[in-house]
Amino acid sequence: MQLSASLITVSYLVAGVLFILSLGGLSTQTTARRGNGFGIFGMLLAIAVTALGHVSSFGLLAAAIAVGAGIGALLASRVPMTSMPELVAVLHSFVGLAAVLVGIASYLGGHVAPSPTEQLLHEIEIFVGVFVGALTFTGSIIAFFKLRGTLRSKPLLLPGRHALNAGLVALCVVLAIHFVNKPVEQGLTPLLVMTGVACFIGVHLVMAIGGADMPVVVSMLNSYSGWAAAAAGFMLSNDLLIITGALVGSSGAILSYIMCRAMNRSFLSVIFGGFGADEGAKPAKASGEPQGEVTSVTAPETATLLRAAKNIVVVPGYGMAVAQAQYPLFEIAQLLRKRGANVRFAIHPVAGRLPGHMNVLLAEAKVPYDIVLEMDEINEDFPETDVVLVIGANDIVNPGALDDSSSPIYGMPVLEVWKSKATIVMKRSMASGYAGVENPLFFKEGTRMLFGDAKKNVDAILTDLRSEGSSAAA
Ligand code: TAP
Repeated sequence: MQLSASLITVSYLVAGVLFILSLGGLSTQTTARRGNGFGIFGMLLAIAVTALGHVSSFGLLAAAIAVGAGIGALLASRVPMTSMPELVAVLHSFVGLAAVLVGIASYLGGHVAPSPTEQLLHEIEIFVGVFVGALTFTGSIIAFFKLRGTLRSKPLLLPGRHALNAGLVALCVVLAIHFVNKPVEQGLTPLLVMTGVACFIGVHLVMAIGGADMPVVVSMLNSYSGWAAAAAGFMLSNDLLIITGALVGSSGAILSYIMCRAMNRSFLSVIFGGFGADEGAKPAKASGEPQGEVTSVTAPETATLLRAAKNIVVVPGYGMAVAQAQYPLFEIAQLLRKRGANVRFAIHPVAGRLPGHMNVLLAEAKVPYDIVLEMDEINEDFPETDVVLVIGANDIVNPGALDDSSSPIYGMPVLEVWKSKATIVMKRSMASGYAGVENPLFFKEGTRMLFGDAKKNVDAILTDLRSEGSSAAA
């Protein structure tokens, strides 16, 4: 069965609208599920129409989809939430590789455009698409290994690295001149050499980026993968691929910008790997260097403090995700709310290891959205807060980000929990967080440390709160 060109165009338009509705839906938690539904439906429509409109051998396509979907579903179902950024990085590398393969195949296919200008444009599309795809491919692989911890998160800062990058880009421009308007036998060599150079640029760019900037890099690579897909859409003259690629490319770029703002990083410094940010900076204070005395607290003492509090703010971080403490944590919040306390959750934009990480975990535990507030919505309320429960968070509550200019996270807005009357920090040790810096919060007068696994401590607090409830009822 072959679909008519106009039916294909209309279906692509509908799929494009569904993708836009999907992105719109994903902007708030209450509509996210519906947004995902739109996206899934749009993609099913896109695949079905493309297959019916352009493919003659359905058997081969069905087999390829079955194998790919089977492997994808198996791997994705096994990935824990904490490893999601790694999965996302690997998926971006596939998009990059696909753009490279589509570009080279399209070139070898010997497409001849009706006019020399259109032919030139087609060749530029191929060159740019392969360049962005190759850079995305290797950059995403390096991001994957860095997030996994296989490669050190410390930036690799080669002397004259910016000049090296500029030189390599200039070399690609020269290769482009040798590529366009040439027969395939002559043009293939510059195309393949440029692919190798772009692969190297991808490795070098991401190797130069430090661990603390990795979240932004993953969303930048997301954006690059979108542009690579859009370029593939131009090569294949597929409008839907152009629309989808542009949506992914621009939403990834906007997300990167929002994250840079949340971490007070310059956009350029992140994408060019520590551009102007690192050379003059003093080294971070070694973790383990004692900064004073810490005050420990037990789970029953914490329960007593919580019972007496009227205003409570919970600040979850990466450690809550590791411990999977969100379920008993919400039970504590419910018990305290029943007692008349005002309990709210404060979310830092880069808490955890991926955008929206904490929101997803809290939604899983069925925490109502109206008590989950963003940093900007709650930061001014800390002076009126009786108890702040910091659970497995570290960098996002580090006062050094505001007052220690030698800190690598200096300038990043943080949740100012130390302004509350009492702060309980739940973590296993005095170890530093993702950015590898000491946290002066632990030594502040109003701070008490509740050491141990977050889940075990939350369970102990819950048991204590419940036992009081049952003894009161008896
Ligand atoms: P972190 O600063 O990484 O601190 C997490 C803390 O959790 C650690 O200090 C650790 O201390 C504690 N912890 C780990 N397992 C625990 C457990 N089972 N029970 C109790 N505590 C546990 O996390 P954060 O405050 O959420 O900040 C996020 C950091 O990650 C930022 O630096 C951010 O830039 C970076 N990052 C963010 C993203 C995104 S997009 N969100 C992506 C990549 C990186 P102990 O070892 O002492 O327990």
